[in-house]
Amino acid sequence: MRKSNIFPRHTNYELPISAYGEGCYIFDINGKKYLDGSCGAAVSCLGHSDSSIKQAIIKQTEKLAFAHTSFFTSEPAEELANTLSLNSPKGLNKVYFVSSGSEAVEASLKLAKQYFNEIGKPQKHKVISRRQSYHGNTLGALAAGGNVWRRSFFEDLLIDTSLISPCYQYRHQSPDESSIDYGLRVANELEKEIIKLGPENVMAFIAETVVGATAGALTPVEGYFKRIREICDQYGVLLILDEVMCGMGRTGSLFACDDEKIVPDIITIAKGLGAGYQPIGAMLCQDFIYDAIANGTGFFQHGHTYLGHPVACAGSLAVINKLINEKFPNQVKEKGEILQQKLEKILGQHEFIGDIRGRGLFRGIEIVKDRASKNPFDKNLNIAGKIKKEALDNGLICYPMQGTVDGFLGDHILIAPPFIINNSEIDELCEKLKKTIDTVCY
Ligand SMILES: Cc1ncc(COP(=O)(O)O)c(C=O)c1O
Repeated sequence: MRKSNIFPRHTNYELPISAYGEGCYIFDINGKKYLDGSCGAAVSCLGHSDSSIKQAIIKQTEKLAFAHTSFFTSEPAEELANTLSLNSPKGLNKVYFVSSGSEAVEASLKLAKQYFNEIGKPQKHKVISRRQSYHGNTLGALAAGGNVWRRSFFEDLLIDTSLISPCYQYRHQSPDESSIDYGLRVANELEKEIIKLGPENVMAFIAETVVGATAGALTPVEGYFKRIREICDQYGVLLILDEVMCGMGRTGSLFACDDEKIVPDIITIAKGLGAGYQPIGAMLCQDFIYDAIANGTGFFQHGHTYLGHPVACAGSLAVINKLINEKFPNQVKEKGEILQQKLEKILGQHEFIGDIRGRGLFRGIEIVKDRASKNPFDKNLNIAGKIKKEALDNGLICYPMQGTVDGFLGDHILIAPPFIINNSEIDELCEKLKKTIDTVCY
């Protein structure tokens, strides 16, 4: 075992040591080259060597590295908030910066609670979310998530939340049901759960607009989120959309919910917001929520030392300006279609591939033991874990995960390459992926 003082994610794996990045590739200290087919975990959307982002970070560091937000605001934070608000769905004008996705979700849950306190409905506190979702690893965010396996370690520390079905067409749409009817059926579970808990007790419904790591790029069917929005409005429940993974152009729109034609009350973003050049996340809320705080207590009872960090905001501002000015969301739409076609060509008829899905450069490949029954492989085979390792050996970074079906069973691979990927790199990604799947599954 390598002698290291790092407390790693897994104590029994030896990882390569990264050295430098170039475009879509990461190189390790031995010079081995890895194509980043998943941007780590959907982070490095502009690749690993964007000089304009690096320059923006250096420039801000030379001016001022840090000023605590209880004493100062900063020019990059102001400008970034302004840019996000101008480009966000209607009414999401107030931006609260944090340093990660989990922090953004924590902030959104606390904001929802404080909002109802401010408007005289303190009994509203229950959170409803969906099975097969992930909202982060801090205790509040973990409690809001529906990743059964991740929750299982800490269940007795988690606040009580309710879980309803995900919108998971491949597995749960009945053969005699249209996709619209399926979407309405699962959306209506929210209404049933609100009525069961008592609308006077329910504070928020939280969902990933496009589900990421837990189930592998599950896209909602048409009409699903419109019905969710209606139900939230009817019962006075705040709709929180978690776009930590699927936001910032990943699905072909700056905000994934733009494609659903709905606007949430609160939205969370991270990952692509800093593109890996800086750790940054944010929560955006509707004016009416901000106004309730501003006209009430006058402060949000929350805060972290590094929120609105000037260097993180400067890096992120350069990322967002680039995404917008160079029309990356459109590019992502086009490249996403090419990626989907190539994945279907190379894996569409594969004995062990059940579904290839997703939107933009956010694609999920569900692995099954048997295509007809959709039965997954035995959990103990750890297909996802083996694929991750084999892919790395083959010079490919992808994001496989177990528990696709119910938190324990099933395997999928998440593909989320940098937006700068070109056609020959897409070919390389698909070929390496097929080679890896063949080696592991046969
Ligand atoms: C949808 C979603 N929400 C929240 C998080 C947590 O973000 P972080 O790991 O930055 O805390 C993630 C991370 O993968 C995520 O995918």
